[in-house]
Amino acid sequence: MQFLRLLPLYLIAAAALAADLTGNWVVAQPLSDGTTRRTYFNLKQDGGKITGGIRTGQFYYKVAESNVVPEGFAITGAMMDGNQERKAQYQVKLVGGELHILTWRRANQPPAESVAHRTASGQGAMPAKIPVPALRQVPYNGLAKTPPMGWNSWNKFASRVDDASVRGMADAMVSSGMKDAGYVYINIDDTWEGERDANGNITSNKKFPDMKALADYVHGKGLKLGIYSSPGPNTCAGYEGTYGHEAQDAKTWAAWGIDYLKYDWCGARNIYTDDEMQAVYQKMGDALREAGRPIVYSLCQYGRADVWKWGPEVGGNLWRTTYDIHDSWDSMMKIGFGQGGLTQYAAPGHWNDPDMLEIGNGGMNENEYRVHMSLWSMLAAPLIAGNDLRTMTPAIKDILMNREVIAIDQDPAGKQGRRVWPDGGPEIWVRELAGGAHAIALFNNASEPAEMTVKWAEVGGTPKHLRDLWSHADVNAAGDGWMAEIPAHGVALLRVSK
Ligand code: GLA
Repeated sequence: MQFLRLLPLYLIAAAALAADLTGNWVVAQPLSDGTTRRTYFNLKQDGGKITGGIRTGQFYYKVAESNVVPEGFAITGAMMDGNQERKAQYQVKLVGGELHILTWRRANQPPAESVAHRTASGQGAMPAKIPVPALRQVPYNGLAKTPPMGWNSWNKFASRVDDASVRGMADAMVSSGMKDAGYVYINIDDTWEGERDANGNITSNKKFPDMKALADYVHGKGLKLGIYSSPGPNTCAGYEGTYGHEAQDAKTWAAWGIDYLKYDWCGARNIYTDDEMQAVYQKMGDALREAGRPIVYSLCQYGRADVWKWGPEVGGNLWRTTYDIHDSWDSMMKIGFGQGGLTQYAAPGHWNDPDMLEIGNGGMNENEYRVHMSLWSMLAAPLIAGNDLRTMTPAIKDILMNREVIAIDQDPAGKQGRRVWPDGGPEIWVRELAGGAHAIALFNNASEPAEMTVKWAEVGGTPKHLRDLWSHADVNAAGDGWMAEIPAHGVALLRVSK
């Protein structure tokens, strides 16, 4: 009996051990944009043990654990991302000279199946680390004296962005009135990248047949064009990054007529430590200066390594302070109200960036989007719309184009607002404006309407003039304060002059 129960296990182990997975394997998946997504499995089998590495998109895992299972080998890949460990699960088996792979991408979802073929050893290996430059100060480029305003493709379109949608967005930026309200940058996020040509020049993929022509089109509308890349070999969506081509790519973008770069850490995590981030961003800061075109430099590394302390040194005009926003009240408010400690780091030319706007994408109600717009304006945050500008409802237009609120965001003094009362419940924030005026925001974070009062004594004295920036009406400032009923997840935003 004992022998019979052990037999199947014995046979399985024998089959796995007989196979030899040693080699360099590639899964090549052609994408509709003309690029090919390649995942490499560089494996060494030693009896029942597998070692090696797996390179997939922006990630490079070392095989940390392997076990013989009835279906072949179960493999755990692990990598360090800053001080956080990331893991990935695979199952591999040899079938007729091919490597059949199951990949678990998300918990509670069935694994994806793919097939890898043998490829030359060394193909897809992670490149050697290029030494980082010594730290120095990159001179300020003179741009973004007020927080940048524009549109970015990621929140709404992700990988579906293409030439036609970017042109459509430029048209709509003008026809909707967004341009007149101050929005100027049309920013293409990840997934525009093609392969490198024989000279190592970056190209755009099939979705963007002619970047220079697109830039000309956008410029012809009186707007500016932005682009996206990563200091790593791969971007977050797995496309070609700038690694080893930093100066060359900056020149290419300048020649295309690019005006704004969002530079996303992503694949750089496999090469550099967080301690090297500043030097890595400095390298592109220098490259942009040397490319000889004014290009707004937007750092995207999710607020790691206290970027606000060194963002200006590397020539950065703005730096992300958080991981990605989502179109939900929870995500927006956690990010927005979590910015309280960074007030001192914002100044003309250099801004904290709590990520792009979700206004108009449908996951929040209008009160919540008013909170989003008000809070970002109190934070002197970049106002980068992330919705489809071609199909905005009147209410969404009113929110994104509320000029009195935009004027708070764009106040020339460039001082970020701060929370004055209290943390956790309904909150009151104050922002000092040029000429001695103030913006006061009363945020009701609760899910019931609430009466909120601001006492003049708590915000620097009785105002001469008081204006409600969402109802566009002057308000009587007599008495020792102002009280209003604020809707659930709502806001009142006031401008006061003394
Ligand atoms: C990261 C960034 C996002 C977006 C995507 C694109 O997640 O934080 O804003 O640029 O990459 O892949």
